[in-house]
Amino acid sequence: MKYESLAIHGGRKDKADIQGVNYPLYLSSTFVQDKLDDFSEFMYSRSNNPTRNNVEVLSAQLEGAKYGLAMSSGMAATALAFSLLKPGEKVLINSNVYGGTWTYVSKVFDERNIDYEIVTNFNTYDFEQADEKTTTIFIETPSNPLLDVTDIQGVSKKAKEKGMRVIVDNTFMTSYLQKPLELGADIVVYSATKYYAGHSDIIAGLVMVNDDAIYDELKFHQKILGAILSPFDSFLLTRGIKTLPVRMDRHLENTMQVAHYFQDSGAVEKVYYTGLKIHEGYEIQRKQAKGDGAVLSVALKKEYDYAIFCNELKLFDLAVSLGGVESLVCHPASMTHESYAKELQEQIGITENLLRFSVGIENIDDLLMDIQQALKKAKK
Ligand SMILES: Cc1ncc(COP(=O)(O)O)c(C=O)c1O
Repeated sequence: MKYESLAIHGGRKDKADIQGVNYPLYLSSTFVQDKLDDFSEFMYSRSNNPTRNNVEVLSAQLEGAKYGLAMSSGMAATALAFSLLKPGEKVLINSNVYGGTWTYVSKVFDERNIDYEIVTNFNTYDFEQADEKTTTIFIETPSNPLLDVTDIQGVSKKAKEKGMRVIVDNTFMTSYLQKPLELGADIVVYSATKYYAGHSDIIAGLVMVNDDAIYDELKFHQKILGAILSPFDSFLLTRGIKTLPVRMDRHLENTMQVAHYFQDSGAVEKVYYTGLKIHEGYEIQRKQAKGDGAVLSVALKKEYDYAIFCNELKLFDLAVSLGGVESLVCHPASMTHESYAKELQEQIGITENLLRFSVGIENIDDLLMDIQQALKKAKK
């Protein structure tokens, strides 16, 4: 089955007498055993719940992965992948990742005696010089908010030769556009809050893996740490996934137009979008992904007041997050990446005039008109 059909018809098949076209919502914390010592697939919902398992199976099918794990948030998914790390180990991480991930790395790793290092560009990184205790690399590609592209296949190969595990945060792409496991990654994590759920109504995370031993350890931690996705949110996530491909197609169309609009507007110093030929990662993105996603950032020229611009936008809501049907704008330096120290923000390129857009699926003319009128008001 092709992706679009699988998104609608994949997942578990209900065994009940009444068969709805949707897999049911099992709001039950515990399940009856037939008799003592007779354990069925479902016993207690923290370990396994049918509605959660349905979205785990469905998302794994879409990824082409052996296993999927549904978590209570994208951060819980990342934390689950990081739960494999042992004291004394070291992690390499790309320079601009989601602020929460950075907070975890820069605060929690320290408490757990885990070392880390920021890698500015994994594509040119010399793995020969990596510290011996480095066991793991964490890649977000395209990165948040600067849309840097990492060559997953090339970098995974080099990391694997050094015995390192590769984790990819694939939130911006989803499995519809990019499949990191097929490119050599070991674990894929998602904030499913974003495109998978698609309607800005739930917080959810997904973890994808092929290796049996890694899965066993992750499954154990999912159950014991307990940050599972609730049945209700699993149901909503399944519903969101059914329309993921069509939403994504429209997101991509709109974003390309918004990127070109900004580029031609004369109002920006730089547009950060992998779909533009001038983007440094343009060729790698063609090689490893089916599209460019719907997040783009722009650095407004000094002649434009970025605060007035944000405040004057009518259709782009000023809000953190991304991946919903509605368009959003945010100011990374103060909203999503405020956990990076100011000097680090500047060093990385998260400047005061940088704005990140999550382009929704509204009518493109309305979106462009909104940008046009807000730019006019923001001109000094
Ligand atoms: C790329 C990326 N990864 C992870 C997360 C964390 O996800 P959640 O907010 O669902 O915990 C986010 C949230 O914005 C994100 O953008």
